[in-house]
Amino acid sequence: MHSSVVARPPREHPATLLASVSDLGDLRVGLRLARPSDAPRVRAFLERLSPETRRRRFGTPQPRISSGLVRHFTFPDPRQRMIVVATAPLEGTERIVGMADAAFLRAELAEIAFVVADELQGRGIGHLLAQAAAALAARHGARRLRADISGGGVAALGVMRGLGPTMSLWEDGSSVAYTTLAPPVEDDGGDGVGPFGSFAERFGARRAG
Ligand SMILES: CC(C)(COP(=O)(O)OP(=O)(O)OC[C@H]1O[C@@H](n2cnc3c(N)ncnc32)[C@H](O)[C@@H]1OP(=O)(O)O)[C@@H](O)C(=O)NCCC(=O)NCCS
Repeated sequence: MHSSVVARPPREHPATLLASVSDLGDLRVGLRLARPSDAPRVRAFLERLSPETRRRRFGTPQPRISSGLVRHFTFPDPRQRMIVVATAPLEGTERIVGMADAAFLRAELAEIAFVVADELQGRGIGHLLAQAAAALAARHGARRLRADISGGGVAALGVMRGLGPTMSLWEDGSSVAYTTLAPPVEDDGGDGVGPFGSFAERFGARRAG
């Protein structure tokens, strides 16, 4: 079971000020929205990914990390897309260790994608990121999530299944997973859990503090 500590976000702009922290064993993982100042950290994260993980996430090994790709993750238009970063204190600095996209395709449907640092895969970060992306999508009105899992294999499907009932199918030559989200819980905004928290609680994360 992951324990979760969620900071109470100030009221004025929860979308940018939310933050949550979860302990995954001895690793303390923070989740927050990406911001423009993350550009060097995003680049470093992408450059450290193995060619195989890049291929799984982007469909190609992405041998060169372009400025456009870094910008994709650091300057999203929040009406269309949001990016969640997972961070952890490693080697004396706060590093990005995973990222998730939530793209709001059309009413009730959002597309999510996620990637975790090679050396930290299999520790629950993928589940955490997907929960956060799903929470943002649900707040945007999504009731179903789509993910292209062509390269992702069993781990990507496992992450989607952790969000709700999931079916996988072939669509335009790609393997795609569709997940139905649980109905939204009543949230008057006063519980301090922020946009990630109330959703994560449905998955059994324990909130402390
Ligand atoms: C998919 C990915 C994000 C999962 O992240 P992660 O932090 O390793 O995932 P988690 O630790 O939360 O585990 C998710 C599930 O996958 C399983 N899993 C993780 N790594 C696995 C591996 N190498 N082999 C088999 N299963 C694996 C876990 O056991 C878990 O299963 P469960 O839900 O039954 O418990 C990560 O593997 C990754 O970055 N892959 C490359 C990019 C990619 O494929 N993205 C998906 C398409 S957008």
